[in-house]
Amino acid sequence: MDKRFYLTTAIDYVNGAPHLGHAYEKVVADVIARARRSLGQSVFFLTGLDEHGQKVQQAAQDLGRSPQAYCDGLAVQWRSFVEALGLSHDDFVRTTEARHRHIVTLLLERLHASGHFYKSAYRGFYSVKEETFLTEKDRNPDGTWDPQWGVVQELVEENWYFKLGEHQAWLVDHLERHPEFVQPAHRRNEVLGFLRSQKLEDLCISRPASRLSWGIPLPFDPGYVTYVWFDALVNYFSIPAALGDPVALAALGAPAPAGSTLSAWPADLHLIGKDILKFHAVYWPIMLHALGAPLPRTLLVHGWWQKDGAKLSKSTGNVVDPLAIIADWGLDAFRYYVVRELAIGPDGNWTDEGFRVRYNSELANGLGNLLNRAVNMLNKYRAGVVPAASNTLEAAATAATAKARECYLDNDPQGALIAAWELVDRANLFVEETKPFHLAKDPAQAALLDSVLYNLVESCRILAVLVHPVMPGTAGKIFAQLKTCGEPSEWRQSTWGGLGEGHQVGAPIPLFPRKDLAPKPGAK
Ligand code: MSP
Repeated sequence: MDKRFYLTTAIDYVNGAPHLGHAYEKVVADVIARARRSLGQSVFFLTGLDEHGQKVQQAAQDLGRSPQAYCDGLAVQWRSFVEALGLSHDDFVRTTEARHRHIVTLLLERLHASGHFYKSAYRGFYSVKEETFLTEKDRNPDGTWDPQWGVVQELVEENWYFKLGEHQAWLVDHLERHPEFVQPAHRRNEVLGFLRSQKLEDLCISRPASRLSWGIPLPFDPGYVTYVWFDALVNYFSIPAALGDPVALAALGAPAPAGSTLSAWPADLHLIGKDILKFHAVYWPIMLHALGAPLPRTLLVHGWWQKDGAKLSKSTGNVVDPLAIIADWGLDAFRYYVVRELAIGPDGNWTDEGFRVRYNSELANGLGNLLNRAVNMLNKYRAGVVPAASNTLEAAATAATAKARECYLDNDPQGALIAAWELVDRANLFVEETKPFHLAKDPAQAALLDSVLYNLVESCRILAVLVHPVMPGTAGKIFAQLKTCGEPSEWRQSTWGGLGEGHQVGAPIPLFPRKDLAPKPGAK
């Protein structure tokens, strides 16, 4: 059984409303998953929901509902959000599912049995909103607490702690030896800087059930539930384990079931936002190291979106509703824009004008116009029949394909689109240079016209394969118009010369209707 390329997204808080930031991360992960599949790798792509914790318990209580019923209702919306984004995930985890809870319980038992936890009394301050303990360092100079912490309570309580500090030197060493572990590099430097300058405190992994019942009970002390992050991070591991992954199960001391079909652990890629770096680059590897499980290969850390230079915020109305954009402009236009606009790493800024400009210039006038002209002229001048093969644009197509492949494998989908658009632009320029509409008027130029038409339709066919991971629907439409057999989802279809002489293409249908007078994108 070959190990799959295993990638994950962060699991979203079920009680938040899905927004552009969530959509971006999920789409980028989907593009990487589709590109790997296209390139012949078998993939396991996991996304899902983070459902435990104080905020969920409180919100459910305020509505007079049980936390489970509250989560079940919200999970329906989140699942339809994921559908609307066209994700090709292989599984969808909810942390309230029995399969996840079971593995978290086994993991806690094992870490407890091997002495990684201890119980201790704590006196201090607690932020209910952020579900975290605060120290004097978190206070403002005037002694007050920053509003980000919400209500801060003074507490004296016994809790369970994970001996995080013991592993600090090991983690520094791991980060030094594995530059690929945190990408981009400046995020790795951030983690190393923190680890080299501060002593790692042990991590409180429990909450008394009297105060918070909506969590996974500690198997060795029923008066407590598991701290939500300790539960949530395990999702990446619990799902392969629950599906019978032998490596994950071995780390838990459990045998793999006969006939288990999944080999995914360790994860190849965790895609996360910059705000949750510490949880993933410090807590998570230490948890796995303590368990004796192999570590994920790479944490890929993306930036945050703003809109018009300001934070996305429901209360101020500064929002971008991905579902509204998709309804107005189409799913592929949305996916294209977020991937093309923002490299994985820096922060991005959504502007409605920026969206409209890319839509019109790159999709409608770029790829859409190229296909439309190519299929239209082939129908008009050659009754839709593909002429003999010609290779004027072959070098440009081969270069774009090689570059796009390299970018996809480097988890740089923006770079792959830039490479593909070099071919779009080259082919559109080729139309201007060769002027097939003039050639068509001169019977002596018939052979040259044949050659131009071949190069144009063949470039379109290859472009369908190159853009497929980002715009699967569009790629399918291109193949359908060209009536070509094979699937644009297979990279091997991108070799020059796939369209055979005498092949009959279909009628032209615009891919991206121009929307100069379209309603404003974005805001509700
Ligand atoms: N539940 C935790 C993650 C647990 S992973 C074991 C969480 N949830 S979240 O819903 O707040 O965020 C989910 C993801 O969306 C995170 O990776 C976060 O960085 C990302 N984004 C949230 N807002 C964002 C933007 N404005 N822009 C881009 N991504 C952002 O954290």
